[in-house]
Amino acid sequence: MEALKLGQKQKDLGQEGLTSWQQILENHSQTRDQQVYKIFREGIEALNINPLEIPSINKINEKLMGLTGWRGVFVDGLEDAHAFYKMLSQKQFPVGNFIRAPEDLSYTPEPDIVHDLYGHLPFFANQDYADFCYRFGHMTCQFMDREDLLRQFERFFWFTIEFGLICTPEGLRVFGAGIASSTGECDYALSREPEVLPFDIDKIRYQEFRIDQMQKRLFVLKNEGELYGCLDELARRVEVDRNRNTENLIIPIPFQGDSQ
Ligand SMILES: [Fe+2]
Repeated sequence: MEALKLGQKQKDLGQEGLTSWQQILENHSQTRDQQVYKIFREGIEALNINPLEIPSINKINEKLMGLTGWRGVFVDGLEDAHAFYKMLSQKQFPVGNFIRAPEDLSYTPEPDIVHDLYGHLPFFANQDYADFCYRFGHMTCQFMDREDLLRQFERFFWFTIEFGLICTPEGLRVFGAGIASSTGECDYALSREPEVLPFDIDKIRYQEFRIDQMQKRLFVLKNEGELYGCLDELARRVEVDRNRNTENLIIPIPFQGDSQ
């Protein structure tokens, strides 16, 4: 994979791209401390991500590799599940080498440099989080031969790493990078609109989701340990499904609010 190299070519996103970056980060920095979980904010500081410039991925990686051994790797489009989880098992996170259009500043279904570099990479400056994702990648790679089982890991990733919430002494906070990187999604997730359920391995691994709209059902962690400590149990339960008769297979829970 070309992208394994440390010296990666970064697209010049021009003045329009820089303006979008500045607007999103400046806007978000006003509410971030009250909305997003502390390890995200600590990562932003550790990696020195700020509104003034779109960071060089090579500079970010120098810091990140020194902290936890992870790195961001530019990819051309959305990685399929096989490629994505393989990357996690190699301590790499895919980063879109483009920025959303100015009319989509608050939300984009396509992972761009704001979603990936600003939203995801700061979390990987935290060792416990980084270790969890590394183990998650490895574990998921063991289920690549069964798309239905792989899907359970995708849903799990979606409702925790992408769209999880977490309890803190100060109140509910955003844990998922998919929410953290979107000012619109942050406001929505912490409003009273979405249904918020306690973290539950079985509910999450069977819960369908859509990527093209705000998440109407979310799950909240009691603490980080609840997530980091559940991996063996998750694998054990998915393994049980591997051995089920087809007529006993559990039907996924439809997306909340989907009329289909
Ligand atoms: Fe993401």
